[in-house]
Amino acid sequence: MSENKSNFKNIELFWNVQFIYELVLAQLELQSFDIDYKVSEDFRNFSVKEIPNLEHFLSRTAYFGSALSKSSLYKSITSKNITRSINQYLTHWFYPYKGKFHPQMIRALINYMRVKEGETILDPFIGSGTTALEAQLLGINCIGVDISEVCSLISQAKTMSIGSIEDIIYHHTEIEGKLGKIQSNQEEEIITKISQIINSIEEPEVRNFFKVSELIAHSDKMRRKKKDFRKSFLKNSAKMITSVSDYADLQEEHNLKLGKVDIYQGDSRELKLDSNSIDGIVSSPPYSIALDYIENDKHAHSALGHDIDVIRNDFIGVRGKGKDKISSYNEDMEKIYLEMDRVLKKGKYCVIIIGNARFNNEEIKTVEMTINQFKKIGYKLEKNIDKIIFGLYNIMQKENILIFKKES
Ligand SMILES: C[S@@+](CC[C@H](N)C(=O)[O-])C[C@H]1O[C@@H](n2cnc3c(N)ncnc32)[C@H](O)[C@@H]1O
Repeated sequence: MSENKSNFKNIELFWNVQFIYELVLAQLELQSFDIDYKVSEDFRNFSVKEIPNLEHFLSRTAYFGSALSKSSLYKSITSKNITRSINQYLTHWFYPYKGKFHPQMIRALINYMRVKEGETILDPFIGSGTTALEAQLLGINCIGVDISEVCSLISQAKTMSIGSIEDIIYHHTEIEGKLGKIQSNQEEEIITKISQIINSIEEPEVRNFFKVSELIAHSDKMRRKKKDFRKSFLKNSAKMITSVSDYADLQEEHNLKLGKVDIYQGDSRELKLDSNSIDGIVSSPPYSIALDYIENDKHAHSALGHDIDVIRNDFIGVRGKGKDKISSYNEDMEKIYLEMDRVLKKGKYCVIIIGNARFNNEEIKTVEMTINQFKKIGYKLEKNIDKIIFGLYNIMQKENILIFKKES
Protein backbone atom coordinates (compact mmCIF):
# COMPACT_ATOMS: atom_id res chain seq x y z
CA MET A 1 0.00 0.00 0.00
CA SER A 2 2.65 2.51 1.06
CA GLU A 3 4.78 1.53 -1.93
CA ASN A 4 1.77 2.02 -4.18
CA LYS A 5 1.04 5.40 -2.69
CA SER A 6 4.55 6.72 -3.26
CA ASN A 7 4.30 5.76 -6.93
CA PHE A 8 1.47 8.21 -7.42
CA LYS A 9 2.18 11.87 -8.27
CA ASN A 10 -0.19 14.80 -8.00
CA ILE A 11 -1.94 16.46 -10.87
CA GLU A 12 -3.53 19.80 -10.14
CA LEU A 13 -7.27 20.26 -10.61
CA PHE A 14 -8.18 23.88 -11.45
CA TRP A 15 -9.25 25.73 -8.30
CA ASN A 16 -12.48 26.96 -9.88
CA VAL A 17 -13.91 23.46 -10.34
CA GLN A 18 -16.83 23.34 -7.94
CA PHE A 19 -19.79 21.50 -9.41
CA ILE A 20 -20.42 17.78 -9.49
CA TYR A 21 -20.79 17.75 -13.26
CA GLU A 22 -17.34 19.36 -13.57
CA LEU A 23 -15.79 16.66 -11.40
CA VAL A 24 -17.50 14.06 -13.55
CA LEU A 25 -16.11 15.68 -16.71
CA ALA A 26 -12.64 15.99 -15.18
CA GLN A 27 -12.62 12.25 -14.50
CA LEU A 28 -14.02 11.39 -17.93
CA GLU A 29 -11.25 13.52 -19.39
CA LEU A 30 -8.59 11.45 -17.61
CA GLN A 31 -10.26 8.25 -18.79
CA SER A 32 -10.32 9.49 -22.38
CA PHE A 33 -6.51 9.91 -22.23
CA ASP A 34 -6.19 6.37 -20.77
CA ILE A 35 -4.84 7.74 -17.50
CA ASP A 36 -5.05 5.56 -14.42
CA TYR A 37 -5.82 7.92 -11.51
CA LYS A 38 -6.74 8.09 -7.85
CA VAL A 39 -8.88 10.77 -6.27
CA SER A 40 -9.06 11.84 -2.61
CA GLU A 41 -12.28 11.60 -0.59
CA ASP A 42 -12.93 15.34 -0.92
CA PHE A 43 -12.45 15.10 -4.71
CA ARG A 44 -9.82 17.87 -4.69
CA ASN A 45 -6.64 15.84 -5.06
CA PHE A 46 -5.99 13.75 -8.10
CA SER A 47 -2.91 11.61 -8.50
CA VAL A 48 -1.59 9.44 -11.28
CA LYS A 49 1.11 6.81 -11.70
CA GLU A 50 2.00 7.84 -15.21
CA ILE A 51 0.58 9.73 -18.15
CA PRO A 52 1.03 7.80 -21.41
CA ASN A 53 1.43 10.89 -23.61
CA LEU A 54 2.16 13.78 -21.25
CA GLU A 55 2.69 16.50 -23.90
CA HIS A 56 -0.58 15.64 -25.61
CA PHE A 57 -2.48 15.60 -22.32
CA LEU A 58 -1.02 18.97 -21.27
CA SER A 59 -1.97 20.53 -24.59
CA ARG A 60 -5.59 19.38 -24.38
CA THR A 61 -6.81 19.09 -20.80
CA ALA A 62 -9.57 21.43 -19.66
CA TYR A 63 -9.71 20.64 -15.96
CA PHE A 64 -6.07 20.25 -14.92
CA GLY A 65 -3.67 23.17 -14.51
CA SER A 66 -0.56 21.01 -14.31
CA ALA A 67 0.61 17.43 -14.35
CA LEU A 68 3.92 15.95 -13.24
CA SER A 69 5.21 19.48 -12.48
CA LYS A 70 4.45 20.83 -15.97
CA SER A 71 1.82 23.49 -16.70
CA SER A 72 -1.05 22.80 -19.05
CA LEU A 73 -1.76 24.93 -22.12
CA TYR A 74 -5.22 25.72 -20.77
CA LYS A 75 -3.58 27.48 -17.81
CA SER A 76 -1.87 29.87 -20.25
CA ILE A 77 -5.04 30.25 -22.32
CA THR A 78 -7.19 31.21 -19.35
CA SER A 79 -4.58 33.69 -18.10
CA LYS A 80 -5.28 35.84 -21.19
CA ASN A 81 -8.40 37.41 -19.76
CA ILE A 82 -9.26 41.10 -19.54
CA THR A 83 -12.63 40.52 -17.85
CA ARG A 84 -13.53 39.73 -14.26
CA SER A 85 -15.26 36.51 -15.22
CA ILE A 86 -12.95 33.47 -15.23
CA ASN A 87 -14.55 31.83 -18.23
CA GLN A 88 -14.58 34.90 -20.47
CA TYR A 89 -10.92 34.61 -21.50
CA LEU A 90 -9.50 35.59 -24.91
CA THR A 91 -12.40 36.67 -27.16
CA HIS A 92 -15.11 34.66 -25.36
CA TRP A 93 -16.43 37.87 -23.76
CA PHE A 94 -17.38 39.52 -27.08
CA TYR A 95 -21.05 40.46 -26.76
CA PRO A 96 -23.21 39.81 -23.66
CA TYR A 97 -25.08 36.84 -25.13
CA LYS A 98 -27.53 35.06 -22.79
CA GLY A 99 -27.24 31.28 -22.74
CA LYS A 100 -23.54 30.94 -23.58
CA PHE A 101 -21.83 27.61 -23.02
CA HIS A 102 -19.17 27.29 -20.34
CA PRO A 103 -16.03 27.00 -22.54
CA GLN A 104 -14.16 24.70 -20.15
CA MET A 105 -17.01 22.20 -20.40
CA ILE A 106 -16.86 22.29 -24.21
CA ARG A 107 -13.11 21.68 -24.24
CA ALA A 108 -13.59 18.65 -21.96
CA LEU A 109 -16.44 17.30 -24.08
CA ILE A 110 -14.35 17.60 -27.25
CA ASN A 111 -11.70 15.58 -25.43
CA TYR A 112 -14.27 12.99 -24.39
CA MET A 113 -15.38 12.70 -28.03
CA ARG A 114 -11.76 11.96 -28.94
CA VAL A 115 -11.86 14.36 -31.90
CA LYS A 116 -8.32 14.75 -33.26
CA GLU A 117 -6.44 17.77 -34.59
CA GLY A 118 -7.40 18.41 -38.20
CA GLU A 119 -10.78 16.67 -37.85
CA THR A 120 -14.05 18.60 -38.04
CA ILE A 121 -16.77 19.20 -35.49
CA LEU A 122 -20.15 20.80 -36.03
CA ASP A 123 -22.29 23.01 -33.83
CA PRO A 124 -25.60 23.57 -35.66
CA PHE A 125 -26.67 26.18 -33.04
CA ILE A 126 -23.40 28.05 -32.76
CA GLY A 127 -24.91 31.00 -30.84
CA SER A 128 -22.12 33.24 -29.62
CA GLY A 129 -19.41 30.89 -30.95
CA THR A 130 -18.12 29.11 -27.83
CA THR A 131 -17.68 25.77 -29.62
CA ALA A 132 -15.91 27.45 -32.54
CA LEU A 133 -13.30 29.18 -30.37
CA GLU A 134 -12.63 26.09 -28.25
CA ALA A 135 -12.26 23.85 -31.31
CA GLN A 136 -9.98 26.40 -32.99
CA LEU A 137 -7.73 26.48 -29.92
CA LEU A 138 -7.44 22.68 -30.03
CA GLY A 139 -6.43 22.69 -33.71
CA ILE A 140 -9.79 21.15 -34.62
CA ASN A 141 -11.84 22.52 -37.52
CA CYS A 142 -15.31 23.77 -36.69
CA ILE A 143 -18.41 24.40 -38.76
CA GLY A 144 -20.89 26.62 -36.94
CA VAL A 145 -24.40 27.38 -38.14
CA ASP A 146 -26.96 29.78 -36.72
CA ILE A 147 -30.15 31.29 -38.06
CA SER A 148 -29.27 34.60 -36.44
CA GLU A 149 -27.06 37.11 -38.22
CA VAL A 150 -26.14 38.56 -34.82
CA CYS A 151 -24.80 35.15 -33.75
CA SER A 152 -22.91 34.44 -36.94
CA LEU A 153 -21.23 37.85 -36.71
CA ILE A 154 -20.21 37.36 -33.07
CA SER A 155 -18.87 33.86 -33.77
CA GLN A 156 -16.88 35.12 -36.74
CA ALA A 157 -15.44 38.09 -34.83
CA LYS A 158 -14.30 35.85 -31.96
CA THR A 159 -12.46 33.40 -34.19
CA MET A 160 -11.49 35.18 -37.41
CA SER A 161 -10.24 38.58 -36.23
CA ILE A 162 -6.90 37.02 -35.23
CA GLY A 163 -5.91 36.76 -38.91
CA SER A 164 -6.55 40.48 -39.53
CA ILE A 165 -5.36 42.10 -36.33
CA GLU A 166 -2.99 44.56 -38.04
CA ASP A 167 -5.71 45.78 -40.42
CA ILE A 168 -8.13 46.06 -37.51
CA ILE A 169 -5.71 48.26 -35.55
CA TYR A 170 -5.14 50.43 -38.65
CA HIS A 171 -8.90 50.88 -39.22
CA HIS A 172 -9.49 51.63 -35.54
CA THR A 173 -7.16 54.63 -35.75
CA GLU A 174 -8.84 55.74 -38.99
CA ILE A 175 -12.34 55.44 -37.53
CA GLU A 176 -11.29 57.30 -34.39
CA GLY A 177 -10.04 60.15 -36.58
CA LYS A 178 -13.24 60.28 -38.62
CA LEU A 179 -15.49 60.19 -35.55
CA GLY A 180 -13.40 62.88 -33.88
CA LYS A 181 -14.31 65.26 -36.70
CA ILE A 182 -18.07 64.94 -36.18
CA GLN A 183 -19.28 68.09 -34.49
CA SER A 184 -22.85 66.94 -33.90
CA ASN A 185 -24.01 65.72 -30.50
CA GLN A 186 -27.07 64.16 -32.05
CA GLU A 187 -26.95 60.50 -30.98
CA GLU A 188 -28.92 59.18 -33.98
CA GLU A 189 -26.65 61.02 -36.41
CA ILE A 190 -23.55 59.54 -34.76
CA ILE A 191 -25.04 56.02 -34.77
CA THR A 192 -25.83 56.33 -38.51
CA LYS A 193 -22.35 57.66 -39.27
CA ILE A 194 -20.64 54.82 -37.38
CA SER A 195 -22.75 52.32 -39.26
CA GLN A 196 -21.87 53.93 -42.61
CA ILE A 197 -18.15 53.94 -41.85
CA ILE A 198 -18.24 50.26 -40.85
CA ASN A 199 -20.26 49.22 -43.92
CA SER A 200 -17.71 50.90 -46.16
CA ILE A 201 -14.86 48.67 -44.88
CA GLU A 202 -13.97 46.22 -47.65
CA GLU A 203 -12.28 43.36 -45.79
CA PRO A 204 -15.04 41.12 -44.35
CA GLU A 205 -13.12 40.10 -41.19
CA VAL A 206 -12.34 43.72 -40.34
CA ARG A 207 -15.90 44.85 -41.08
CA ASN A 208 -17.37 42.03 -38.93
CA PHE A 209 -15.07 42.94 -36.05
CA PHE A 210 -16.32 46.53 -35.95
CA LYS A 211 -19.94 45.45 -36.49
CA VAL A 212 -19.73 43.37 -33.32
CA SER A 213 -18.23 46.32 -31.47
CA GLU A 214 -21.18 48.38 -32.74
CA LEU A 215 -23.64 45.70 -31.52
CA ILE A 216 -22.01 45.72 -28.08
CA ALA A 217 -22.43 49.52 -28.01
CA HIS A 218 -26.14 49.06 -28.81
CA SER A 219 -26.38 46.55 -25.99
CA ASP A 220 -24.59 49.00 -23.59
CA LYS A 221 -27.10 51.68 -24.57
CA MET A 222 -30.14 49.43 -24.03
CA ARG A 223 -29.11 47.32 -21.06
CA ARG A 224 -26.61 49.47 -19.21
CA LYS A 225 -28.13 52.82 -20.16
CA LYS A 226 -24.80 54.14 -21.45
CA LYS A 227 -25.39 57.51 -22.99
CA ASP A 228 -22.39 58.24 -25.22
CA PHE A 229 -22.60 55.79 -28.15
CA ARG A 230 -19.42 57.03 -29.84
CA LYS A 231 -17.38 56.64 -26.65
CA SER A 232 -18.84 53.23 -25.94
CA PHE A 233 -18.13 52.02 -29.50
CA LEU A 234 -14.50 53.21 -29.45
CA LYS A 235 -13.90 51.79 -25.97
CA ASN A 236 -15.35 48.40 -26.93
CA SER A 237 -13.24 48.32 -30.10
CA ALA A 238 -10.07 49.07 -28.11
CA LYS A 239 -10.87 46.34 -25.56
CA MET A 240 -11.64 43.87 -28.32
CA ILE A 241 -8.31 44.70 -29.98
CA THR A 242 -6.52 43.90 -26.70
CA SER A 243 -8.16 40.47 -26.56
CA VAL A 244 -7.46 39.64 -30.21
CA SER A 245 -3.82 40.75 -29.74
CA ASP A 246 -3.61 38.51 -26.65
CA TYR A 247 -4.89 35.65 -28.77
CA ALA A 248 -2.24 36.35 -31.44
CA ASP A 249 0.46 36.45 -28.72
CA LEU A 250 -0.74 33.15 -27.27
CA GLN A 251 -0.63 31.56 -30.71
CA GLU A 252 2.93 32.75 -31.21
CA GLU A 253 4.18 31.87 -27.70
CA HIS A 254 2.89 28.30 -27.95
CA ASN A 255 3.28 27.84 -31.70
CA LEU A 256 -0.40 26.89 -31.90
CA LYS A 257 -1.77 25.41 -35.09
CA LEU A 258 -5.31 26.76 -34.98
CA GLY A 259 -8.25 24.85 -36.43
CA LYS A 260 -10.13 26.27 -39.42
CA VAL A 261 -13.44 27.91 -38.62
CA ASP A 262 -16.37 28.14 -41.00
CA ILE A 263 -19.41 29.99 -39.72
CA TYR A 264 -22.52 30.46 -41.79
CA GLN A 265 -25.91 31.99 -41.20
CA GLY A 266 -28.51 29.37 -42.05
CA ASP A 267 -31.29 27.06 -40.98
CA SER A 268 -30.08 23.83 -39.39
CA ARG A 269 -33.24 22.03 -40.42
CA GLU A 270 -31.46 21.80 -43.77
CA LEU A 271 -27.71 21.70 -43.34
CA LYS A 272 -25.64 22.61 -46.37
CA LEU A 273 -23.15 19.87 -45.59
CA ASP A 274 -22.19 16.54 -47.16
CA SER A 275 -23.41 13.31 -45.59
CA ASN A 276 -20.86 11.48 -43.39
CA SER A 277 -18.52 14.47 -43.30
CA ILE A 278 -18.43 15.34 -39.58
CA ASP A 279 -16.26 13.80 -36.80
CA GLY A 280 -18.25 15.06 -33.80
CA ILE A 281 -21.18 17.27 -32.85
CA VAL A 282 -21.58 19.35 -29.71
CA SER A 283 -24.48 21.73 -29.37
CA SER A 284 -27.17 23.20 -27.19
CA PRO A 285 -30.43 23.66 -29.04
CA PRO A 286 -32.78 26.54 -28.24
CA TYR A 287 -34.44 25.70 -24.93
CA SER A 288 -37.95 25.16 -26.17
CA ILE A 289 -39.89 28.08 -24.79
CA ALA A 290 -37.47 28.98 -21.98
CA LEU A 291 -35.47 31.77 -23.61
CA ASP A 292 -36.72 34.18 -26.25
CA TYR A 293 -33.54 34.71 -28.25
CA ILE A 294 -35.20 37.25 -30.50
CA GLU A 295 -36.49 39.40 -27.66
CA ASN A 296 -33.15 39.25 -25.79
CA ASP A 297 -31.20 40.69 -28.70
CA LYS A 298 -33.97 42.83 -30.20
CA HIS A 299 -31.76 45.92 -30.33
CA ALA A 300 -29.00 44.04 -32.18
CA HIS A 301 -31.35 42.44 -34.74
CA SER A 302 -32.91 45.85 -35.40
CA ALA A 303 -29.50 47.51 -35.72
CA LEU A 304 -28.73 45.02 -38.50
CA GLY A 305 -31.98 46.01 -40.23
CA HIS A 306 -34.06 42.92 -39.41
CA ASP A 307 -37.78 42.94 -38.78
CA ILE A 308 -38.21 40.98 -35.52
CA ASP A 309 -41.63 39.61 -36.51
CA VAL A 310 -40.34 38.29 -39.80
CA ILE A 311 -37.18 36.55 -38.56
CA ARG A 312 -39.13 34.97 -35.67
CA ASN A 313 -40.69 32.51 -38.17
CA ASP A 314 -37.41 30.64 -38.65
CA PHE A 315 -36.13 30.70 -35.06
CA ILE A 316 -36.79 27.37 -33.36
CA GLY A 317 -38.60 27.55 -30.02
CA VAL A 318 -40.02 31.04 -30.43
CA ARG A 319 -42.38 30.54 -33.35
CA GLY A 320 -46.10 29.86 -32.81
CA LYS A 321 -48.26 30.42 -29.73
CA GLY A 322 -49.32 28.30 -26.71
CA LYS A 323 -49.35 24.53 -27.29
CA ASP A 324 -48.57 25.06 -31.00
CA LYS A 325 -45.27 26.51 -29.94
CA ILE A 326 -44.34 23.22 -28.27
CA SER A 327 -45.45 20.97 -31.10
CA SER A 328 -43.60 23.15 -33.66
CA TYR A 329 -40.51 22.94 -31.43
CA ASN A 330 -40.69 19.14 -31.28
CA GLU A 331 -41.20 18.85 -35.03
CA ASP A 332 -38.28 21.21 -35.76
CA MET A 333 -35.96 19.39 -33.39
CA GLU A 334 -36.81 16.01 -34.92
CA LYS A 335 -35.83 17.39 -38.33
CA ILE A 336 -32.58 18.79 -37.00
CA TYR A 337 -31.60 15.57 -35.24
CA LEU A 338 -32.10 13.70 -38.53
CA GLU A 339 -29.88 16.24 -40.27
CA MET A 340 -27.19 15.85 -37.60
CA ASP A 341 -27.38 12.09 -38.09
CA ARG A 342 -27.02 12.46 -41.86
CA VAL A 343 -23.78 14.44 -41.61
CA LEU A 344 -22.15 12.57 -38.68
CA LYS A 345 -19.80 9.67 -39.45
CA LYS A 346 -20.54 6.25 -37.95
CA GLY A 347 -18.87 5.49 -34.60
CA LYS A 348 -18.65 9.22 -33.71
CA TYR A 349 -20.19 11.21 -30.88
CA CYS A 350 -23.03 13.70 -30.71
CA VAL A 351 -23.34 15.70 -27.48
CA ILE A 352 -26.58 17.58 -26.79
CA ILE A 353 -26.94 19.90 -23.82
CA ILE A 354 -30.61 20.43 -23.12
CA GLY A 355 -33.10 20.85 -20.27
CA ASN A 356 -36.81 20.49 -19.55
CA ALA A 357 -38.56 23.85 -19.34
CA ARG A 358 -41.84 24.63 -17.60
CA PHE A 359 -44.83 25.99 -19.50
CA ASN A 360 -48.17 26.75 -17.76
CA ASN A 361 -46.89 24.85 -14.71
CA GLU A 362 -46.25 21.77 -16.80
CA GLU A 363 -42.84 20.27 -17.40
CA ILE A 364 -42.01 19.86 -21.05
CA LYS A 365 -40.08 16.64 -21.40
CA THR A 366 -37.51 17.80 -23.93
CA VAL A 367 -34.73 15.66 -22.45
CA GLU A 368 -36.77 12.46 -22.73
CA MET A 369 -37.89 13.42 -26.23
CA THR A 370 -34.26 13.92 -27.28
CA ILE A 371 -33.14 10.58 -25.80
CA ASN A 372 -35.99 8.69 -27.48
CA GLN A 373 -35.36 10.33 -30.82
CA PHE A 374 -31.65 9.49 -30.81
CA LYS A 375 -32.25 5.89 -29.70
CA LYS A 376 -34.78 5.50 -32.51
CA ILE A 377 -32.19 6.46 -35.10
CA GLY A 378 -29.50 4.09 -33.86
CA TYR A 379 -27.58 5.95 -31.15
CA LYS A 380 -26.46 4.67 -27.78
CA LEU A 381 -26.80 7.05 -24.81
CA GLU A 382 -23.31 6.63 -23.34
CA LYS A 383 -23.60 9.26 -20.57
CA ASN A 384 -26.34 11.44 -19.12
CA ILE A 385 -24.86 14.06 -16.77
CA ASP A 386 -26.96 16.47 -14.70
CA LYS A 387 -25.84 20.08 -14.73
CA ILE A 388 -27.40 22.88 -12.71
CA ILE A 389 -28.28 26.21 -14.33
CA PHE A 390 -27.99 29.62 -12.74
CA GLY A 391 -30.20 32.53 -13.58
CA LEU A 392 -33.21 30.78 -15.09
CA TYR A 393 -34.61 29.36 -11.84
CA ASN A 394 -38.25 30.02 -12.54
CA ILE A 395 -38.23 28.23 -15.89
CA MET A 396 -35.37 25.75 -15.71
CA GLN A 397 -33.20 24.51 -12.86
CA LYS A 398 -31.02 22.00 -14.56
CA GLU A 399 -30.02 20.72 -17.92
CA ASN A 400 -28.54 17.43 -19.05
CA ILE A 401 -25.38 16.71 -20.95
CA LEU A 402 -26.44 13.84 -23.21
CA ILE A 403 -23.54 11.99 -24.82
CA PHE A 404 -24.69 9.82 -27.72
CA LYS A 405 -22.61 7.49 -29.87
CA LYS A 406 -23.65 6.72 -33.43
CA GLU A 407 -23.67 2.96 -33.65
CA SER A 408 -25.36 2.21 -36.94
C1 LIG B 1 -28.81 27.72 -26.77
S1 LIG B 1 -28.39 28.82 -28.08
C2 LIG B 1 -26.77 28.32 -28.42
C3 LIG B 1 -25.77 28.98 -27.50
C4 LIG B 1 -24.36 28.54 -27.76
N1 LIG B 1 -24.12 27.20 -27.31
C5 LIG B 1 -23.33 29.50 -27.10
O1 LIG B 1 -22.40 29.06 -26.43
O2 LIG B 1 -23.47 30.73 -27.27
C6 LIG B 1 -29.36 28.26 -29.43
C7 LIG B 1 -29.15 28.97 -30.76
O3 LIG B 1 -29.99 28.36 -31.75
C8 LIG B 1 -30.21 29.32 -32.77
N2 LIG B 1 -31.29 28.87 -33.67
C9 LIG B 1 -32.63 28.96 -33.50
N3 LIG B 1 -33.28 28.44 -34.56
C10 LIG B 1 -32.34 27.99 -35.44
C11 LIG B 1 -32.39 27.35 -36.71
N4 LIG B 1 -33.55 27.09 -37.33
N5 LIG B 1 -31.22 27.01 -37.31
C12 LIG B 1 -30.02 27.32 -36.71
N6 LIG B 1 -29.93 27.95 -35.52
C13 LIG B 1 -31.06 28.27 -34.86
C14 LIG B 1 -30.50 30.58 -31.97
O4 LIG B 1 -30.25 31.74 -32.75
C15 LIG B 1 -29.52 30.45 -30.79
O5 LIG B 1 -28.36 31.18 -31.07
